[in-house]
Amino acid sequence: MELPFLESILKDLSLPAWQYYEEVGSTNDVALTWLKSGAPDGAVVIAGHQTRGRGRLGRTWITVPEAGLAFTLIVRPDEGAPLPPERLTALGALAVAQAFEAGFGLNAQIKWPNDVLISGRKVCGILVELAWTDNYLQGAVLGIGINVGRAAVPPASHLNYPAISMEEVLGHPVSRWEVLHQVLRAYLAWRPHLVAPEFIAAWESRLAFRGEWVRAEDGLNPPLIGRVEGLSPAGHLHLRLKDGRDHWLTAGEIRPIKPLFAESSGGEDA
Ligand code: BTN
Repeated sequence: MELPFLESILKDLSLPAWQYYEEVGSTNDVALTWLKSGAPDGAVVIAGHQTRGRGRLGRTWITVPEAGLAFTLIVRPDEGAPLPPERLTALGALAVAQAFEAGFGLNAQIKWPNDVLISGRKVCGILVELAWTDNYLQGAVLGIGINVGRAAVPPASHLNYPAISMEEVLGHPVSRWEVLHQVLRAYLAWRPHLVAPEFIAAWESRLAFRGEWVRAEDGLNPPLIGRVEGLSPAGHLHLRLKDGRDHWLTAGEIRPIKPLFAESSGGEDA
């Protein structure tokens, strides 16, 4: 049922290869296996439903059939050009944010480093995983999960960040495959520009919480409070600390100091 429709909707994108699974554990797992067995750059694994979807930091990512969109892109290093893994997350987030705007008129922001927000709530999460052979980077998989339908948003008790769906924001249902098409189109347009300065500029223009105070945690050092200033040329988050010092966050998570919403105390796993 889904397959012929997907075939027709993806036709104009000239993807090098793609696979669809009605049900799968995690599209990232399938993509990692496929990458190791020779999948080309730009190949995509799409799921109707995931039973063991993964989020960042060991979290679970729930993909509700019909309502959640889950897919993973395979990225291979370009001949002679670097593949900065930290930019891949941003590449996914930028593609999603642009697709939301171009395809659905939604104004989306990127919560550094890997979430896409609408009106301050999470609509999309991204998980990049690398595949190494000895010391050689074979490539990476870029997994994207989007709350398309209302039912994709888990109950507040499962959330660690406020979440919302495209359907709730728009006030009407949206086709998951139309969202997929728009995101892949934006991804393919940005992929050749991964290391270009305009890539950082486009990412920075959509950065959430600019000029606002956030709490930043990198999992290693004590949390920091800082004001979001922007991005460094390498894509690190530039914070101005209370004492006026500058700090660049290379990994971790941020959240705004002031709770945005009354119900925001839950834990997001989706
Ligand atoms: C996060 O916000 O913690 C990242 C969530 C990433 C979820 C996507 S859904 C497609 C791909 N397959 C997975 O198992 N995870 C990613």
